[in-house]
Amino acid sequence: MHIIHISDLHFGHPMQCDLAVLSSSIQAMAPDLVVISGDLTHRARTREYRESALFLEQLGISYLTVPGNHDVSIHHPGERLFHPWKKWRTHIGSTGIVRYNGADFTVVGINTVRRFGWYWDWSRGRISSEQVREVQKYLASVEGKSITVLVAHHPFWLPDAYRNRALIMKGEDALPRLAASGVDLILGGHVHVPFCTVRSGMIISNAGAPCVKRLPEGVMNGFSSIRAEQRQLVITHWVLQDKQYIPQQKNRFIKREDRWDLLGETTAEHP
Ligand SMILES: [Fe+2]
Ligand SMILES: [Fe+2]
Repeated sequence: MHIIHISDLHFGHPMQCDLAVLSSSIQAMAPDLVVISGDLTHRARTREYRESALFLEQLGISYLTVPGNHDVSIHHPGERLFHPWKKWRTHIGSTGIVRYNGADFTVVGINTVRRFGWYWDWSRGRISSEQVREVQKYLASVEGKSITVLVAHHPFWLPDAYRNRALIMKGEDALPRLAASGVDLILGGHVHVPFCTVRSGMIISNAGAPCVKRLPEGVMNGFSSIRAEQRQLVITHWVLQDKQYIPQQKNRFIKREDRWDLLGETTAEHP
């Protein structure tokens, strides 16, 4: 399995880089699949959706994407409440469960965005019991894959420094159920910070944001490449420096029985 994981493109918001640099960097790596974990657009405008769709099409590589909270309008309450996903469906695709089957891996994506809730912060996401059941049902139908990946925009875990951002609602209930159904790796975005960790025996990895000028202090733009074979998995984080992406950090994981362990992290060498 070779996946490039990018997130939070935020088309419509000022960018730090030429998107052609991102495209050509991804194309040069020739992955099996590109995963984009939400916030394709910044304000869910039609123009932003068009740009997102064009970027994905011009990559010329299989991709799987899920929505983020910025992909529904915050400026048009009628649109948000009554037809929040019309533009996504028109320009990108399904907002239901999405799937990709590679030779030795399978990926399933879910929409964790909620258009409305009885709480202040509507950027928060949620995973419902029904979504967990859908994932379980799908994974039970897939056989012979060594790696199983779940994609969701909102984070199931955050480093201490970013705990001011809310975790996905119902995530704690979902984690053991996802692990029991065979999920190896959860890919997410939302906070624009790269990290990886192990929770409930699964690897949780966040790609950061590759281009947008909307980053926490001290964080660089970047994305992740993920390679896995049987019971070993390596996540490399690439950062934008001098108008090119260079590998910065490698995290190696190994699966022992049915749990993943972090073997260690090293500084990556430029190929
Ligand atoms: Fe974002
Ligand atoms: Fe977000």
